[in-house]
Amino acid sequence: MDQYRVFGNPIAQSKSPFIHQSFAAQSQCLLNYQSELVELGQFEKAVNNLIANNGKGANVTAPFKEQAFAMCDELSEKAKLAGAVNTLIFTQGIIYGDTTDGIGLVSDLLRHQVILQDSHILLLGAGGAAKGVVQALLDKAPKSLTIANRTLSKAEAIAEQYPNKPIKAVTFSDTEHSQFDIIINATSAGLSGDSLPISNNTIENANTCYDMVYGKKPTAFLQQARLLGVEHVIDGLGMLVGQAAASFQLWTDINPEVEPILKSLREQLV
Ligand code: ATR
Repeated sequence: MDQYRVFGNPIAQSKSPFIHQSFAAQSQCLLNYQSELVELGQFEKAVNNLIANNGKGANVTAPFKEQAFAMCDELSEKAKLAGAVNTLIFTQGIIYGDTTDGIGLVSDLLRHQVILQDSHILLLGAGGAAKGVVQALLDKAPKSLTIANRTLSKAEAIAEQYPNKPIKAVTFSDTEHSQFDIIINATSAGLSGDSLPISNNTIENANTCYDMVYGKKPTAFLQQARLLGVEHVIDGLGMLVGQAAASFQLWTDINPEVEPILKSLREQLV
């Protein structure tokens, strides 16, 4: 049977095996998808071992996305710009790398009927999570994409990768002076219990607040957005399933149905 893995460290928390096994069952596709804990320094060995054992593809999560990028023989344009990959395809002796996080985010926004074209988007954060979605957001022709980050230089470095696009880098305090339709949190601030330095006024003027983080309870950012009456308040669970669906399609050519999996994952959240 064709073998697939998700490699990471830690990995026990990963929902990818459940998602991909569900996609496979749904489309009557015979494949085996498991999670694999990889020791630091052992990533290449794990990939080569999978290839030698009927491996057809893999997902890659923290902290190996950059190592996976470095190991690829061929890369998609999106992966080149992101400098990281979350999806590997093993075909004809070649390792091909792609990143589906951006497609996952965009497909989830569209599923919620959020209009991206001609919108003003504010992306909070300039780490790996933010970098991975910029190209996919720009592909939807927003009027502007503003990246705000605590460390301005990191946001500037991303913006410089897209010289002919309506993209700019700012500090958090600069966001006070502009209005945004869509605010996307791609920082890890909430995970460490810190709140985001974004004013109520900026949040309240948006029609959509999206947090890439998800959990049983809404994040502090999403709670704030709800209290302020923002129309679309969305967590990152749909992005997770969306990126998985895009990976699954790259491997099998089948576009799986996202809704039922999302529903059961939501019920399983603790
Ligand atoms: P990831 O892969 O999740 O993106 P990362 O690459 O370490 O992780 O990036 C974390 C992001 O969260 C960065 O944009 C970081 O800001 P800096 O570049 O200034 O470090 C942001 N971040 C983390 N903690 C934050 C906080 N307390 N307030 C604001 N931004 C924070």
